[in-house]
Amino acid sequence: MSAIQIAPSIIAADFLHLADAIATVEAGGADLLHLDVMDGQFVPNITFGPLVVEAVKRHARLPLDVHLMIADPDRYVGAFVKAGADTLTVHLEAVTHLHRTITHIRSQGLRAGVALNPSTPVSLLEEIIEEVDVVLVMSVNPGFSGQTFIRRSESKVAAVRGLIARRGARAQIEVDGGIDPETIGGMARAGADIAVAGVAVFGQADPAAAIQRLRAAAGTAP
Ligand code: DX5
Ligand code: ZN
Repeated sequence: MSAIQIAPSIIAADFLHLADAIATVEAGGADLLHLDVMDGQFVPNITFGPLVVEAVKRHARLPLDVHLMIADPDRYVGAFVKAGADTLTVHLEAVTHLHRTITHIRSQGLRAGVALNPSTPVSLLEEIIEEVDVVLVMSVNPGFSGQTFIRRSESKVAAVRGLIARRGARAQIEVDGGIDPETIGGMARAGADIAVAGVAVFGQADPAAAIQRLRAAAGTAP
């Protein structure tokens, strides 16, 4: 098993000092920057859109992992491509023609991800798993940072890992929601490749040390 990648979510950072927050986690060994886009419709919260993604792109060295929690994401793929997203993840529950959406994102040269809400079964990935670069398993109901981890997500990650192995697919597994030093180990053992962390990084006094704690707790410290 290769080392788990850590993707701090800027949702838990100080938005008036975002450039400093990003520089801190980049220097602290983060692998990706996770950007949570929420529209107040697909989820009950509103965060930011392409304008902020573009501003982050101008400062960041790390790849931008953009998680769209929005209704009708097809309408906005072009805007997020232009803003500089490197990975664009849409919710399976938010699109009608998932194959078309994934194909479109990949045709723009981005990595394409599909996210699953906690109640969405892994079986819905059967026909798409070979086409996606990332499967994002939500371990909270999307909408807010700082929620309690849903333990059942561990067996869900294991089920996605089994599906990927059965099909010889290449998708990475990303876990998102309530990830901290207590919960990351089980997710890493279940087969997660990327762990998103909001409060567990930006809510800590020393975000760089927090990243190291997460790596150590995942059991994959370099
Ligand atoms: C939840 C978002 C997450 C989340 C991460 O809707 O997709 O990325 O806010 O925050 P923590 O790690 O604090 O749960
Ligand atoms: Zn997210």
